[in-house]
Amino acid sequence: MATTTRHWTPTHGDPYRPVPYRPGRMAPAESLARAAELRARMDERRTVRQFATDPVPLDVVRDAIACAATAPSGAHQQPWTFVLVRDPGVRRRIRDAAEEEERLSYDGRLGEEWLAALRPLGTDEVKPHLTDAPALIVVFQQRYWLGEDGTKRKHYYVDESVGIAVGMLLSALHLSGLAALIHTPSPMRFLSDVLGRPANEKAFAVIPVGYPAPDCQVPDLVRKSLDQVLVEF
Ligand SMILES: Cc1cc2nc3c(=O)[nH]c(=O)nc-3n(C[C@H](O)[C@H](O)[C@H](O)COP(=O)(O)O)c2cc1C
Repeated sequence: MATTTRHWTPTHGDPYRPVPYRPGRMAPAESLARAAELRARMDERRTVRQFATDPVPLDVVRDAIACAATAPSGAHQQPWTFVLVRDPGVRRRIRDAAEEEERLSYDGRLGEEWLAALRPLGTDEVKPHLTDAPALIVVFQQRYWLGEDGTKRKHYYVDESVGIAVGMLLSALHLSGLAALIHTPSPMRFLSDVLGRPANEKAFAVIPVGYPAPDCQVPDLVRKSLDQVLVEF
């Protein structure tokens, strides 16, 4: 099906303009088969912290970002910016700044309860994935809309909207054959400085993307079973 790309421009207070929406209905048997396959494939996703340095097909990454940008958002304000970083020098600066923050965190800033929660993951303040992975996607939340003339407009449900978009991004990367890690060094202000982002944007996460290193290991985690997460009436 041919698609046309229309560029979004900020609208505020426009009238409701409905258009028909008639997606084909999938037969239940096909739905069931697809749901089971998707469940199995998603269950194979793991957070990777040891990456090979091999390059990845960048159009796969760009398509995954385009998938993320189809996410629902509060008042359709799409309050996200994805910064794709490949430059080794910029990745090095991000790693140095992240490790500086993480050192303070692991040296006590996190507190014993948080450190205990992290212990089964085997993480520490050394973050080689930030320079080993061939690409980083740095996700920013647009806390408010900022016009070129300095006009500000409130954005609604920014945390929820960006969280959903990042979930879709991680799913798209995984289903396209790439590995990723959602990394949240705290605080993340240095990302705005290194990447020169505007005042309305706040870093949400750094997502290294690549292939697992040949000797990659992951913690032996157990996911909650369906009956532990689903309540039905
Ligand atoms: C919001 C969020 C923040 C996270 N931050 C980090 C992080 O800073 N460093 C890290 O190594 N993993 C981080 N993770 C990854 C989790 O540790 C990981 O998803 C969890 O242990 C489950 O493992 P799995 O993704 O392989 O299922 C984060 C995950 C989420 C959802």
